[in-house]
Amino acid sequence: MVSVTRSVFGELPSGAGTVEKFQLQSDLLRVDIISWGCTITALEVKDRQGRASDVVLGFAELEGYLQKQPYFGAVIGRVANRIAKGTFMLDGKEFQLPINRGPNSLHGGLWGFDKVLWSPQVLPNGVQFSRVSPDGEEGYPGELKVWVTYTLDGGELMVNYRAQTSRTTPVSLTNHSYFNLAGQGSPNIYDHEVTIEADAFLPVNEALIPTGEVAPVQGTAFDLRQPVELGKHLQQFSIDGFDHNFCLKQSKEKHFCARVRHAASGRVLEVYTTQPGVQFYTANFLDGTLKGKGGAVYPKHCGFCLETQNWPNAVNQSNFPPVLLRPEEEYNHTTWFKFSVA
Ligand code: BGC
Repeated sequence: MVSVTRSVFGELPSGAGTVEKFQLQSDLLRVDIISWGCTITALEVKDRQGRASDVVLGFAELEGYLQKQPYFGAVIGRVANRIAKGTFMLDGKEFQLPINRGPNSLHGGLWGFDKVLWSPQVLPNGVQFSRVSPDGEEGYPGELKVWVTYTLDGGELMVNYRAQTSRTTPVSLTNHSYFNLAGQGSPNIYDHEVTIEADAFLPVNEALIPTGEVAPVQGTAFDLRQPVELGKHLQQFSIDGFDHNFCLKQSKEKHFCARVRHAASGRVLEVYTTQPGVQFYTANFLDGTLKGKGGAVYPKHCGFCLETQNWPNAVNQSNFPPVLLRPEEEYNHTTWFKFSVA
């Protein structure tokens, strides 16, 4: 049984609208999602002893989400991750997007899908958000109709993304939740055990743009096919964290992506998806300056993201999975976040 409760979360400045909160509850999970950016603001999961903790980083109030912050819990679009120099060619025409991170366009631009109010519709076991991204929004061609649907089933949260366009455009949608299975506010994720089902990853240049090479993980720090304890693993390979795309099975069927286990609490998160990639990001750019829920501070490495999506900068790399959506097609991807205890 899943219950869905609707309430007001906050008012946008200058009468720009009311942000609502949808609380989805099953006997195993409770998740709060707001209509601003389709953002997951809380996710309560029980541990081995049946004690619930909130395992996602975020803010108690709307103001937190409106400040400059690193996409906590939000849906990212029109194109997740980086497009090199914010530019691409399409049908012989060059498109220039706003540059918002170093020399690149990141996460849909200055006003991406995370920074807009979506229209909600309550479902028996979840909530569906929709919006129309106008032709030319953030420099992208075509009017894009988008639906993001969250549904809960026991310990599993499913997120489905659909989109239709009036002109050919790149589309890659994801959710940017930062998890800490010890409970948000815990200082780091070094005691988390991580497995990612990927035989290859994408090396990046100094601007975090994939070089184009699809590199085997074998014999590198990126071989996470067997569980590794994150803190020890980072030390062993002397790396400062992950911010990389792992190449998943390229099938539109549901496939296994990753498993993260927190031994002390027993909490386990398994991710399944229809997407060809996952950005594994260990919150390398957090610096403890943001004040989160319950007075939490968020230092570097205090959370991890598993952003299932197309490969970064695919619009400029012909050897990457296709990222263009054409008018006669429908974009349709699903990701499953499955929580359990072990
Ligand atoms: C990117 C990071 C970025 C973070 C937050 C991730 O998806 O890969 O480089 O810092 O999002 O903006």
